[in-house]
Amino acid sequence: MLSTIASTLFLAAAAVAAPSTPRSEHAPAAPPAPLLDDFLPPVVPVNTRAANQELISSLLLAPTQQERVRLLNQPGDYVFDFNNRSIPGSESDGLGGFTVAANARTFPALIGNGGAMTLGFLGPCGMNTAHVHNRATEFNIVVKGRLVTNFVIENGLAPIANTLSLYQMTVFPQGAIHQEFNPDCEDAVFVAGFNNVDPGVEQVAQAFLNLNPAVVGATLGGVTTLNGKDIESFRQHIPENVAQGIDSCLKKCGIKRNNKRDDFFLSN
Ligand SMILES: *[C@@H]1O[C@H](CO)[C@@H](O)[C@H](O)[C@H]1NC(C)=O
Repeated sequence: MLSTIASTLFLAAAAVAAPSTPRSEHAPAAPPAPLLDDFLPPVVPVNTRAANQELISSLLLAPTQQERVRLLNQPGDYVFDFNNRSIPGSESDGLGGFTVAANARTFPALIGNGGAMTLGFLGPCGMNTAHVHNRATEFNIVVKGRLVTNFVIENGLAPIANTLSLYQMTVFPQGAIHQEFNPDCEDAVFVAGFNNVDPGVEQVAQAFLNLNPAVVGATLGGVTTLNGKDIESFRQHIPENVAQGIDSCLKKCGIKRNNKRDDFFLSN
């Protein structure tokens, strides 16, 4: 039986492959070979419904992937553009650089898919200050420059610190306090993947100092120079998430602290 099928297929293939009658001199010219562009999907406006509450609500209510996919019916729904810095809620800015986040709100196509991603652009000595992702483990890979990471996973464990070179990766377990900084005088870029569409982020210093001043004072135990009133004023002086880092780096790169860079973006 099998050999009958095989021989039938062989005969069919032979028939297809048989040379056709030679082309006459008056045969029409062969059509031009298709251009590569004919095969490429069109370039369309992308993620046009970023942060669109109506779409997001419908996606969250849809019980199945089938229904979610049918809702994502615009041509660019499955593309997120990290170049676009005006997607509401995607950017976190500071003196030392910025991060752009694709999550359930800024990129609705992620809903139901269990992951999110952030790109971090750190200027010379730029630091993503100590923070926690409440609901996700982070995988962080350096795609430009170098990155120094420090993290503490939980009470009783020693801190972990590394200097990552280009294309090296680290993992910050869910809930670990961690930070990254660029030790060089050129820009650095990292890609951070998360195993939750809504990883969440909480800056450690800011969050701590937002506790009741009496609690903060008591936690810092015996720091008599930092009373409740001082904490109020101190809190306002903590830099935004992406700060300008370590003094020795600023010195190496000849950067004056608080020199604001408005032109910061990596097109190269
Ligand atoms: C960037 O995102 C905003 C908000 O979603 C959108 O209105 C705008 O068209 C986008 N720009 C580009 C170039 O895609």
